[in-house]
Amino acid sequence: MPEIAETSHNLIRSRRNPLVRRIRQLHDAKGRREQGLLLLEGTHLLQEVLRLNLQPAEVVATETWLQRHQPLLERLPGPWPLCTVCDTVLAAMATTQHPDGVLLTLSNAALPASGNRPRSRDGLWLCLDAIQDPGNLGTLIRTGLAADVSGLWLADGADPFQPKVLRASAGAALELPIWRGPRDALAERLRELQSRPGLQIAASVPPHQGGSPYWELDWSRPTALLLGSEGAGLAEPLLALADRRVTIPHAPAVESLNVAVAAAPLLLERQRQRLTRHPQPAAAG
Ligand SMILES: C[S@@+](CC[C@H](N)C(=O)[O-])C[C@H]1O[C@@H](n2cnc3c(N)ncnc32)[C@H](O)[C@@H]1O
Repeated sequence: MPEIAETSHNLIRSRRNPLVRRIRQLHDAKGRREQGLLLLEGTHLLQEVLRLNLQPAEVVATETWLQRHQPLLERLPGPWPLCTVCDTVLAAMATTQHPDGVLLTLSNAALPASGNRPRSRDGLWLCLDAIQDPGNLGTLIRTGLAADVSGLWLADGADPFQPKVLRASAGAALELPIWRGPRDALAERLRELQSRPGLQIAASVPPHQGGSPYWELDWSRPTALLLGSEGAGLAEPLLALADRRVTIPHAPAVESLNVAVAAAPLLLERQRQRLTRHPQPAAAG
């Protein structure tokens, strides 16, 4: 069992306890920056931390949760302090309406380093322009991980480490190298990436903005895929960098797809092309 702080023996019952204020500060970007910590809520994210072998900064749990999940805690790499709180104190710390009894904090330093080092020669970078909705961003991050992207580059938009995005990404935000900065800086990064041999920048646009069907692109080439924001789409300075525009054709009854929905076929097309070119042998039996 990891080292446990004194607080574990003293059940915290008061919402005025300084711990409550400190954890609540992590709801906002400013508090996360100042404390250098992220707030992860719920058993699923704790399991992701365990799977990734990350060491929490601290764990806060109710007695009921502890009775049911003690073995999980024992597998978390330590040492870390454990604080036991009553239900109302946990609810005061959480951003969700119905917290499941546990939350933990994680140092920013525990996250994968951001950067542009490709994980493979045929790298795929997911570049998002000012995504506003935390649910969309979380879904995009999760799909990016499923597509084995080399990195996620964000121009402004929602904070990928806010609790809502972390939940919607089902923890994928803890695993992907994520860079976030102003749109100009993203454009600069893309220009640098463009100097790599064979690299292509593909801007995804709704059908009314032209573009060829996405399956016509050779996704085996190193590719930076750009997706635009929910309202305005891709900003002109990013569109201008694209070597190709790709689209998912659909009925004209809708002008465009939700950005997180559009990302799934685009991001997974690389895998589809790979599997079609090199079919996997059928399983015996
Ligand atoms: C909701 S759309 C933006 C709509 C915006 N009014 C426009 O016209 O660009 C958000 C982003 O999702 C992607 N997207 C939406 N529908 C798409 C489609 N049919 N094909 C390819 N990308 C699409 C694009 O990257 C787009 O910028």
